[in-house]
Amino acid sequence: MAGDGLFPLTDEHESIRQAARNFAQKEIAPVAAEFDETGEFPSKTIKKMGELGFMGIEVPEEYGGAGMDTLAYVLALEEICKVDAAHGTIMSVNNSLFCNGIMKFGTEAQKQKYVVPVASGAAIGAYSLTEPMSGSDAGTMRSRAVRQGDEYMINGRKSWVTSAPVAKYVVLFTMTDPEKKHRGISAFLIDADKPGFVRGKKEPKLGIRASATSEILFEDYHCPLENRLGEEGEGFKIAMAVLDAGRIGIAAQALGIAEASYDASLSYAREREAFGTKIGEFQGISFQIADMKTRIEASRLLVYNAALAKERAKKTGERFTMEAAMAKLFASETAMFAAHTAVQIHGGIGYSKELPVERYFRDAKITEIYEGTSEIQRLVISRMELGLR
Ligand code: CAA
Repeated sequence: MAGDGLFPLTDEHESIRQAARNFAQKEIAPVAAEFDETGEFPSKTIKKMGELGFMGIEVPEEYGGAGMDTLAYVLALEEICKVDAAHGTIMSVNNSLFCNGIMKFGTEAQKQKYVVPVASGAAIGAYSLTEPMSGSDAGTMRSRAVRQGDEYMINGRKSWVTSAPVAKYVVLFTMTDPEKKHRGISAFLIDADKPGFVRGKKEPKLGIRASATSEILFEDYHCPLENRLGEEGEGFKIAMAVLDAGRIGIAAQALGIAEASYDASLSYAREREAFGTKIGEFQGISFQIADMKTRIEASRLLVYNAALAKERAKKTGERFTMEAAMAKLFASETAMFAAHTAVQIHGGIGYSKELPVERYFRDAKITEIYEGTSEIQRLVISRMELGLR
């Protein structure tokens, strides 16, 4: 595959890529349209993905994961998303927003209790930062955790939580000291089966419809002290560091959607005839193919580069914020461009649910929004370049 030549793909990388491709084509492709239509959570396929090690690819085997590297994670996620981005969203949150954060900032007991079930696919994890009045401005949250002896009492409303309707555990970010603003935010590990955890309104979404998203209400939820992730006041930095990893996952998802859109367009341009010739013969179509291909290969370079930067960071402790932001920004805009172009190349049939290109189009949009909008990625990149923060 073009672009791979620059990257050190091992036999292990090839084998997880192949395993993810086979699984996606055999098990997900036949059901993707149906789950998109009903918006139901695809429990059976997700459980099987857990059994194959796809829910904790970078988690060491002793904590229930597959013990592989970030490039392996990205390659597998790309293949799943080429077939269905909704399955990819669930996989991405379990891997990068849930397991990765606890592996990085959690205690041994927290890793055993929370990472093992989620990485092995026995339970679903979620990450809850956003609130109705704080999305991009993540530091201004209204929910509260008040220390009472050796526990915290949590109250408030969180929104847009991926997998919240089905999650067993949630990494929650909430305010412990409002006067300190973002430095007053702390992170907690929440058990959804405990009293005071209420699953709220489910979001009726445009795309990634099989990935369940809802609000969560905390109503006098008692959280023991040992469930705090990191120190009090460290929550914002944990949230941001975890999002750096998450953004690489979303970039890989976007790459998968773009490739699926491209593959469909290429086949159609080779087969479909108009005005006595294959439509790929028209320069209007062929130049679109060229632009899609070029942007996809550029995205691949940025996405795999970000994966390698994250892998290096495991040893050096350096941040990979910039690499992740550039990969997400470029790959998500490429996904939207490729899906939009794919619908246009297909014409009327591209607008029909008889083909998956309309689903790629709906699914692509979220990659420019969640885990930091394109505007936030531009802000992160430009602030770092200008040295203003
Ligand atoms: N890693 C570690 N620390 C970081 C960091 C990072 N990537 N980014 C910032 N920080 C630290 C800064 O160093 C700073 O530290 P000090 O307190 O020591 O000064 C602190 O965090 C505050 O940083 P900023 O001053 O830059 O903070 P800001 O208020 O200006 O916000 C922002 C920065 C980039 C806009 C940030 O708020 C942001 O990324 N917003 C988008 C939030 C987002 O992505 N939300 C999506 C939620 S997840 C989701 O989509 C749902 C789902 O289920 C998938």
